[in-house]
Amino acid sequence: MKRREAFKKLGLLAIIGSSSISLLSSFKNTDTANTSITKDLSAAAGLDPSMEKRNKLIVNRNHYSFADPDNPTKSELKHTPDISLGKKDSQGHTLVQITIGMQGIIHPSTKEHWIDFISVYLNDEQISFTEYRNGGIRGFQDFYVKLNKGDKIKAVSGCNIHGIYSSSILV
Ligand SMILES: [Fe+2]
Repeated sequence: MKRREAFKKLGLLAIIGSSSISLLSSFKNTDTANTSITKDLSAAAGLDPSMEKRNKLIVNRNHYSFADPDNPTKSELKHTPDISLGKKDSQGHTLVQITIGMQGIIHPSTKEHWIDFISVYLNDEQISFTEYRNGGIRGFQDFYVKLNKGDKIKAVSGCNIHGIYSSSILV
């Protein structure tokens, strides 16, 4: 009698065990399917899967500013967006140029160390966000923007290693 009950329990455990394994393997299959769908969607959207590799190199998302505004360091100048205004076009849009690095100190653009994004705000509303691939391309942007006196333009940029810096100007 006791032996029969023991065999019943073992049989039940075996059924539970095999169900768990098939349940786990079905989760694994779902994950694989999802990864495949994500890859297909990325490819359809023109996104390169190697962006994942690039994204792993972005290791600092802290925000920084000049520790001493009267005496910024070379590193602070190198990471801060420099915003300048140019001429107006025939429809009244003003040329806005943004480069990363002030006073002629230009940030590096290598595979390992680069400006990975620039975001631009007009009166605290984001009007642009651009991500840069690593290597070769330098953090720089040109826009024609409709501006009024008193408007504020702010640029925020990220260095993959040294973090996020911002600056702004009033028109
Ligand atoms: Fe940097």
